[in-house]
Amino acid sequence: MQNSQEVQRVVEALRAALPGGASEKAPLGLILGTGLSGLTARLTDACSVPYADLPGFPLSSVDSHQGAFVRGRLGRGEAGVPVLVQQGRCHLYEGRSPAQVCMGVRVMAGLGVRTLIITNAAGALNPRFAAGDLMCMADLINHTGVSPLAGPNCQAWGERFPDMSAPFDPFLQALALQTALKLGIRLERGVYIGVHGPEMESPAETRMYRQWGADAVGMSTVLEVIAARHLGLRVLGISCLTNKNLPDCMAPVPLEQVIAVACRAGEKLARLLEELAAASGQGADN
Ligand code: HPA
Repeated sequence: MQNSQEVQRVVEALRAALPGGASEKAPLGLILGTGLSGLTARLTDACSVPYADLPGFPLSSVDSHQGAFVRGRLGRGEAGVPVLVQQGRCHLYEGRSPAQVCMGVRVMAGLGVRTLIITNAAGALNPRFAAGDLMCMADLINHTGVSPLAGPNCQAWGERFPDMSAPFDPFLQALALQTALKLGIRLERGVYIGVHGPEMESPAETRMYRQWGADAVGMSTVLEVIAARHLGLRVLGISCLTNKNLPDCMAPVPLEQVIAVACRAGEKLARLLEELAAASGQGADN
């Protein structure tokens, strides 16, 4: 398990760097995955703190991931909803530890986030899903082989054996599906399998993951959800399906394609999140 003092040091540095400091709470947190960082351009009153300014906060080595916390207001309406955004993340495949991968979640919780929306780019495994569509995560499979909760438990954060019977909040899932329907955005619902990476899946792995019940595969998110649930946060997960993996007709998936499709779908995701933030504004911290 992570050292809580290391997290606290980042919490304090971030609080000091954000105007308004501790007084400006953002109960809604947002993690933006590959190609989705542009969403922060839609925030009002935005203020950004690079990870490099936060002592001990892991930087991402991937170009498609910016590295900053951004606080601002998201959504329609007069004021918008205050959000704290993690713009880019680090991954196990970069050689980062589960503790480093989950540091952002623990920092956000330390700053008062109670509801977390986690986004990512993922490959579709369900043959009925299309590249470019969004998927609301209904459940997850942690196939990374590690857990951010291994080691002595930090009781102040959560229990030794946290419940995972509902990793993704059923109310937020229903709200997301309802909101997407209202906006005319296709939002699939399915199981996300998180793998270690960085290599993409072989045909046999792809077939196996599908047989296990997964609808989409990616290299992030699952550890963050586990850490968030341990902390008692409510979690919503949205994947941007950037490619389709069918075991009998696999094709190479260049990173440029993943980023290009995520950027295009990112526009839909931004509209969905803005509307969701407005809809959950009053419910974000209840
Ligand atoms: N596999 C793993 N991670 C991914 C994929 C994929 O097909 N697409 C985007 N991220």
